[in-house]
Amino acid sequence: MTTEMAPHDQQLEYWDTVFAGSKYFYGSEPGPVARRAVRYHRPVCPSGGTAIDFGCGEGQDLAFLAAEGYDAVGIEFTAHGVAKTRQLLAGRALSAEVRQMDLRKLEVHTQYDLVLAVNSLQFLGPDADAALDRVIKKVAPRGVLGLSLFAREEDTPPVENDIYRATLSELQARLQSVLGSWQMLEAANLWQWNRAIDRPQAFVTLIAHRMR
Ligand SMILES: C[S@@+](CC[C@H](N)C(=O)[O-])C[C@H]1O[C@@H](n2cnc3c(N)ncnc32)[C@H](O)[C@@H]1O
Repeated sequence: MTTEMAPHDQQLEYWDTVFAGSKYFYGSEPGPVARRAVRYHRPVCPSGGTAIDFGCGEGQDLAFLAAEGYDAVGIEFTAHGVAKTRQLLAGRALSAEVRQMDLRKLEVHTQYDLVLAVNSLQFLGPDADAALDRVIKKVAPRGVLGLSLFAREEDTPPVENDIYRATLSELQARLQSVLGSWQMLEAANLWQWNRAIDRPQAFVTLIAHRMR
């Protein structure tokens, strides 16, 4: 008899396998969303502040946040991702908290000055909608949000094959409805190489400043 895994367990198994090797799957240098979000946040808070990276993978963006002086936390549900993130931090003599946790269990108690969710929330499938609201609520007043996820064509459903997709206009409207008073710094539809499937993939990317 075969036992069918819940979709989120399939994601857990998939990403844990992807991160199992000794190489860093997405490299060990920070991506463009993390770099640009920090650049926008820097004038608001020159000393850094607090930061969180949702679905931090192997930790390249988290290590960057720590190196930039942020008191930073990474959330990741794979054991290999957590271990590789800690290894990357230790190798650079950096410190950041790394929590092994499912993003579905996220609560909204603490807010952060800089919040990243880069190419992670789509894998929550039908739970991504609620998780997205909680991620938005994590941004402190005057904080910056850097978000990237799979793009949805207007005439397709938000969840297909347990993967969530959003349009840029939906995301922008959602920001305003969840917390209000955002300044859009960057909002783009773009095709990027999806390393996991070795094909181009449509993404939406948004960097926004919570004005109060
Ligand atoms: C495409 S990778 C991106 C990783 C990293 N943000 C980056 O830019 O390199 C997707 C990440 O989301 C994580 N992830 C997916 N579903 C998750 C969940 N329910 N809870 C926590 N992390 C999750 C995966 O383990 C993986 O690290």
